[in-house]
Amino acid sequence: MKSRPIESRIGNTRSRLGVIDRMWHALGSQLRNPTGAVGSIVGWLMALVNDEPNRLAIDALDLGPGERVLELGFGPGWSLRTIAARTRGARVYGVDQSARMLQQATRMNEVAVSSGRMVLVQGPFNPLPWIDETFDKVLLANVVYFFDSDSRDISEVYRVLRSGGRVVIYVTSRDTMQKWPFAGPDTHRTFDAHDLASLLENAGFRASDFLSYLDIE
Ligand SMILES: C[S@@+](CC[C@H](N)C(=O)[O-])C[C@H]1O[C@@H](n2cnc3c(N)ncnc32)[C@H](O)[C@@H]1O
Repeated sequence: MKSRPIESRIGNTRSRLGVIDRMWHALGSQLRNPTGAVGSIVGWLMALVNDEPNRLAIDALDLGPGERVLELGFGPGWSLRTIAARTRGARVYGVDQSARMLQQATRMNEVAVSSGRMVLVQGPFNPLPWIDETFDKVLLANVVYFFDSDSRDISEVYRVLRSGGRVVIYVTSRDTMQKWPFAGPDTHRTFDAHDLASLLENAGFRASDFLSYLDIE
C-alpha cells in the first residue's frame, strides 16, 4: 500500500489542532463580546448553561421591594428577567457592550423595557453612565473574567453602589477554568479566592464585609 510521507501526516495533524484551537478561541471571544449570528446562538447557550449559576447569584442578592438593581454584562438578559419577575416595584438596569446582546435582552424583557421599569444600555463597564451611589444591588455573573487589570471596572461598581449596598459576584475558579479550552488568557482573566478578594479590596470594599462564597465545580 502506498503511504504518505510522515512529515505530511504530522503537518495535517498540526493544522487540524490549529483549527480546533482557533475554534475554541473564537468561542472565548464570543463569550467576551457576542457578535453577529454566532453571537445570537452563543447568547441562547448562555441563557441555558448559566441559568443555575445566575439563580444562585440572584438568591444571594437578597432582593427587596423597590430596590434599584444593576447587572453588568447582562448577555441574553435571562437574569434581568428573573430579577424583574422576583421583585415588586424594583427598577432594573443593565449594561453590556454587545449590540447583539442588547437586542436579545430587549426582546427577552420587552414588557419591562417598554414600561420603563427596565433600562438597558449598550456600553462599556467603565465608565458607567450613572451617578455615584445609584444602586442598592449589583450583579456580576460570569463577567469579572473580562474586567481590566487596573481595577477601573470594579472601581466603577464601587462608585455606583450605595453605601451599605450589596454586590454579588459569580465566578468559576481558576482551577476549573484552566481545564476549559475556550477560556484562554487572550480572552479570560481567571481568579482564585485570594485574587477575588484583592480585586474587591483594591476598589475600596472592606474585607470584613465579605460574605461567604460558593465554590461550585
Ligand atoms: C459570558 S457573558 C455573561 C452573560 C450573563 N451575565 C450570564 O451569566 O449568562 C459576558 C457578557 O459581558 C459583556 N462584556 C464583556 N466585557 C465587557 C465590557 N468591558 N464592557 C461591557 N460589556 C462587557 C459581553 O458582551 C457579554 O454579553
